Amino acid sequence: MRIAVIGASGFIGSRVTSELIARGHEVIAVSPTFGVDAVTGQGLRQSLEDVEAIVDVSNAGAFGDVNALHFFRAAGRNLVAAAVEAGVQRHIVLSVVGTDRLVENDYFRAKLVQENIARASPLSITVVRSTQFFEFLQSVTVMNPIDDDLLLPSTLIRPIAADDVVHFLIRSVEEGTGDSFVEIAGPEIWQLDDLGRMLLAADEDPRRIVSDPESRYFGVPIAHDSMLAC
Ligand SMILES: NC(=O)c1ccc[n+]([C@@H]2O[C@H](COP(=O)([O-])OP(=O)(O)OC[C@H]3O[C@@H](n4cnc5c(N)ncnc54)[C@H](OP(=O)(O)O)[C@@H]3O)[C@@H](O)[C@H]2O)c1
Repeated sequence: MRIAVIGASGFIGSRVTSELIARGHEVIAVSPTFGVDAVTGQGLRQSLEDVEAIVDVSNAGAFGDVNALHFFRAAGRNLVAAAVEAGVQRHIVLSVVGTDRLVENDYFRAKLVQENIARASPLSITVVRSTQFFEFLQSVTVMNPIDDDLLLPSTLIRPIAADDVVHFLIRSVEEGTGDSFVEIAGPEIWQLDDLGRMLLAADEDPRRIVSDPESRYFGVPIAHDSMLAC
């Protein structure tokens, strides 16, 4: 298949690209690194010529970026318009489990907008919501510092390996899951505070984790099960 990967230079995008090429697909790499910008639309329509499927794994800068809403709204609209015009058959969007429950945070609100733009389009859409990647869990150890300690809620979290996310995306694009919406999660459930303790211990970091049910997740009040797949 001829497949466009939006965000092909990124953490997930570069893995998806390598795996698709290894499986014999033709990949059109889309991102500013490759001279195509989904936010301004520069080069986008041309890049989708004869493309059968799109995998959107683009991202708006750093997590919590205040420009996230502008990014996902503009990129989402441009992508849908260009894909419809180009006759793309399948559109897969990677999102985050809990997005609809964490909308107080600018980033998650922007992800919900991205999902809604895709789902409202006439394309055959699959929104794949994934839990947090194991590879990014280290960010937990910078959350809510207080003196030499960290405050963390005991919220449940079920991280997934990036490779498993990549394989699911590949399967979705090759076979079509038949779903317009699917959630994926890793094998095991932990409490966020316990996970923080394991991460600090593994780094021989002397700080302590103080369990605090009132503490926030990236600035958002969070319920015990907000980050679990439905
Ligand atoms: N982190 C997690 O635990 C987690 C969990 C579930 C889902 N997700 C989702 O996974 C997705 C991928 O995350 P990631 O960490 O792989 O992202 P990343 O490494 O930050 O990569 C972002 C990609 O987006 C591209 N990009 C930036 N601006 C663009 C533009 N204007 N037009 C087109 N492409 C543009 C970048 O291209 P350049 O390099 O050329 O700038 C890069 O290829 C995100 O949507 C995120 O919400 C993440």
